Amino acid sequence: MFINIVMKVIDLRSDTVTKPTQQMKKAMLEAEVGDDVFGEDELTNKFQHKIATLFGMEAGLYVPSGTMSNQLALKVLTQPSDEVLIESKGHILQYETGGASFLSAVQLFPLQGNSGKLNASQITSAVRGTYDWEPETKVVCVEHSTNKGGGTVYSLSELRSIKHECQRHKLYLHVDGARIWNAMVATGQKPHEIGQLADTLSICFSKGLGAPIGSMLLSSIKNIAKARRFRKMWGGGMRQIGLLTAAADYAVEHHWPKLALDHIHAKTFAQTIAETSALQIDLDSVQTNIVLFNTGDRTAIEVLDIFGKHGIKMVPFGQSTVRATFHFQIEEADVNRLIEVTKHCFNT
Ligand SMILES: Cc1ncc(COP(=O)(O)O)c(C=O)c1O
Repeated sequence: MFINIVMKVIDLRSDTVTKPTQQMKKAMLEAEVGDDVFGEDELTNKFQHKIATLFGMEAGLYVPSGTMSNQLALKVLTQPSDEVLIESKGHILQYETGGASFLSAVQLFPLQGNSGKLNASQITSAVRGTYDWEPETKVVCVEHSTNKGGGTVYSLSELRSIKHECQRHKLYLHVDGARIWNAMVATGQKPHEIGQLADTLSICFSKGLGAPIGSMLLSSIKNIAKARRFRKMWGGGMRQIGLLTAAADYAVEHHWPKLALDHIHAKTFAQTIAETSALQIDLDSVQTNIVLFNTGDRTAIEVLDIFGKHGIKMVPFGQSTVRATFHFQIEEADVNRLIEVTKHCFNT
C-alpha cells in the first residue's frame, strides 16, 4: 500500500505568518461591535484604554499596521524639514517605503549602532539645529526588540540613558515596539517601565502574539487625538473593528506568556547553527525569537534552497545572511526536524 505522507511546512519567514486559532476566532465571533469612526465600538474603546493603562500611557489608538503606527508617531511629533535620528537598520528607514519623507516631510538620519541598537553618546554627537543651515533634530527612534538587528533588546539602563540624552536636547523618543512583547519576556521589563520613557510607543499584535491584524500607537491624549485625525486622512478609520480588537485582546491575554518558548526554540536552533561547519552565528545576538546567521561559502539564496527542499522556509537578509523567526505555531516536533535537517545538510 502506498502512503502519501504530506510534510508539514516549517514556516520561519516571519512571526507574522501565524493563523488565528479556533479560540481566537471564537473571541472574534462573540465580539459586540459598533462603528469606531463614530467612536462607538465599545470593545475597541475598552481595549485601547486597557493597553494604554498597561503601559502607563494616557491613550492608545488601534491602527491596521505597525507601519501606520510608526508613521503616525512621526507625524504627530515633527514639523516638515525636521530630522529624525534612527539606527541604520531601523524598520522606519529600511522597510516603510520612504513614508517618513512623503507623509511627514522629515529627514531620517541613520546612525551606525550595534546590532540595530543606538547608544546615548551617538545621539549627543548627532543632534543638529544650532545653525540655520542645519535641519532641526526632533525625534530619536529606537526599536525594541530589533528586527534587522536580529531580535536584540535594550536594557532599561540603556533606554534610560537614551531618554536622558533626549531630554537634554529637547528631543522626543519614539519606541518602535513591534515586538515589545518579546522584549519584555526576554528582559523582564515591565510595560510601564518602557512606557514612561517613550513619548510615543508603537506596539503590534500581529507579530509573535499571533493576532491577524493590528497595532497600537500609545502616547498623550493630545498626540492620540491628532493621530486619530491623520489615521482617518490616511484611510485607516475603520468601522466594526471590535472583531479585530477582540483577537488582539485574546492574543495579549493568551499568547504573550507563550513567547518564552519561542525564545528557547530560537536559542536551540542558534546553538545548532554554531555547531555546524558550514554556517556561522554570533550567539550573543540571539536574544529573542529572531535568529540571523551567516551562510559561509554559500549565498543566502543557496542556503534557503537547501532548507526549502526539506520544507523549511526562511528569508534572505542580505547576500550571505538568513533570518529565521520563531513563533507559537512552530512546535517541538518542528524544532527537532529543523535541527536534524540543519545538522544533516550543513556539516560538511
Ligand atoms: C520593528 C518593526 N517595526 C514595524 C513593523 C511594521 O509592521 P507592519 O508589518 O504591521 O506594518 C515591523 C514589521 O515586521 C517591524 O519588524
